[in-house]
Amino acid sequence: MAKDGNNSAARFLPDHLDLASLRGAAAGCEGCGLYRNATRTVFGEGPAEARFMLVGEQPGDQEDLKGHPFVGPAGRVLDRGLEEAGIDRDEVYLTNAVKHFSFTSQGKRRIHQKPTAAEVDACRPWLNAELTVVRPEVVVVLGATAARAVLGRDFRVTRQRGEPVPLGDDVPAEVTAVAVATVHPSAVLRAPDRDAAYAGFLADLQVAARTA
Ligand code: URA
Repeated sequence: MAKDGNNSAARFLPDHLDLASLRGAAAGCEGCGLYRNATRTVFGEGPAEARFMLVGEQPGDQEDLKGHPFVGPAGRVLDRGLEEAGIDRDEVYLTNAVKHFSFTSQGKRRIHQKPTAAEVDACRPWLNAELTVVRPEVVVVLGATAARAVLGRDFRVTRQRGEPVPLGDDVPAEVTAVAVATVHPSAVLRAPDRDAAYAGFLADLQVAARTA
């Protein structure tokens, strides 16, 4: 797919890249069809000088309603993991591969729907712009969708989690961070053995903490 075609956020990028102008421009993004049903764009949050950038999949129901990333149940797992890994929230920029909530409706319920590869690709200009502005030392990749966006489609979280790896070819070359992938915190909540899943998640975050 053409990166600057209709199915891309590229044409919505502001001329000047800083977090405030990116956030303002992303609020009006119609780079793929997800803006039609979502309440709002949920852009990344955190300091421009953050040492860590954490990348999730997409905002969930609560994030879509409140307008902030990781403020629902998965966010609580993430907050606990960061604290126990000794990663200070002041050093974290938190964002998602896709900036609009993708869901299907069942009556009044909104059921999370995994974003398609085309939606991840369409949203990539925002993530790459965030990476270019923040220039983190370490990118923590939360789950398979974020891995596709940051590390490329051949990366497998199950095989390569918890080890420092270079960023994928779709990230601008001037961003020289190291990435550490782990499972998505919502996978911890869904796991049959939650304690074991959380222990693995925490171990990966501890690798990220030591890598910075
Ligand atoms: N899951 C994500 O991947 N991101 C959020 O912001 C919330 C839940």
